[in-house]
Amino acid sequence: MKEKVLEKFAEIFGNTDGVKAYFAPGRVNLIGEHTDYNGGHVFPCALTIGTYGAARKREDNKLRFYSMNFEKLGVIESSLEELQPDKGADWTNYPKGVIWAFGERGMKVPCGMDLLLCGNIPNGSGLSSSASVEVLTGFILRDMFGFEVTNQDLALIGQFSENKYNGVNCGIMDQFAIAMGKKDHAIFLDTADLSYTYAPVLLEGAKIVIACSNKKRGLGDSKYNERRSECEEALAELQKVKEIRTLGELSEQEFEESKDAIGSSVRVRRARHAVYENQRTVKAVQALKENDITLFGQLMNASHVSLRDDYEVTGIELDTLVEEAWNVEGVIGSRMTGAGFGGCTVSIVKDQAIPAFIEKVGTAYQEKIGYAADFYVVEIGGGPTVL
Ligand code: GLA
Repeated sequence: MKEKVLEKFAEIFGNTDGVKAYFAPGRVNLIGEHTDYNGGHVFPCALTIGTYGAARKREDNKLRFYSMNFEKLGVIESSLEELQPDKGADWTNYPKGVIWAFGERGMKVPCGMDLLLCGNIPNGSGLSSSASVEVLTGFILRDMFGFEVTNQDLALIGQFSENKYNGVNCGIMDQFAIAMGKKDHAIFLDTADLSYTYAPVLLEGAKIVIACSNKKRGLGDSKYNERRSECEEALAELQKVKEIRTLGELSEQEFEESKDAIGSSVRVRRARHAVYENQRTVKAVQALKENDITLFGQLMNASHVSLRDDYEVTGIELDTLVEEAWNVEGVIGSRMTGAGFGGCTVSIVKDQAIPAFIEKVGTAYQEKIGYAADFYVVEIGGGPTVL
């Protein structure tokens, strides 16, 4: 991949003098969905697939971008004076947002750059290609200009740019998982205070399989913001009867005792998901530590049911993939992963069952939905790096 991006860089931007190549991973969340903006726990891991980049400083203020994933768009040109969100800027709003966010944090980027990207994360799959681009850009800026920021800062800057420049009120999970990734480990992160531990994910005789629904997302982001406000409203109602700062502070029992303070049944279900999913995540990590992969799988399944029935972010595509997976022998657990409304599912599947899993789930999906799903057997990789 390094050769591929350097070669293309030379073709597009003239030569490779002074160019460096970089990589930032994508991520998959094993459990703990829609908890990261509710002060709860998440358990994601970085993947060995992600975004490759080649970059070089310029002597002027121009920013020139090229993506091998969107070749038809050609070189998209901008400058350090044009750091405002702009629909016409297309995918470059992600790297531009990060350059802007560095400036907002007092780290003004001193000159322009040429940046070429090539991602091997399936497009729009919910494996965080945008967060991968954000963390990669931050990593490149640090390397190029010597800004004193930690990887954790890169995650926070990436999230800030996504919230304020790109208008999606996402939590910290994706950028954190990518910036802090560690090979063969998932990150048990408490989003209330960003404390975290790494847990080894050594699935003896089983693998992580991603099924991509290929459902095009569109309205997803606005629904995402809607869920977030529903949780905020429910929290405000609960705060009238309980001294809490986040939904993540509640145990299941505390929630059951105080839920009548929430004024609508829809918001009760949204908050119930946030509370129970957080507790499930804590239990799942404990189960993994005790090598009880069966329990881990059951908690993954329960997570999906809650996202389907209480949080209502699945849809027929993700439900079909997951419910078909549950019927395949050798599937330890299966659930939607990421924001939902399309995107991917994550399943833990015994090695010898993987071909049957892909065949059975793939066929049923094609028949019911009318187009194909894609399957990827993935590995857990490390964080961003210079190649
Ligand atoms: C998206 C967001 C994350 C998180 C998940 C749902 O991936 O970017 O912050 O909220 O959805 O768990």
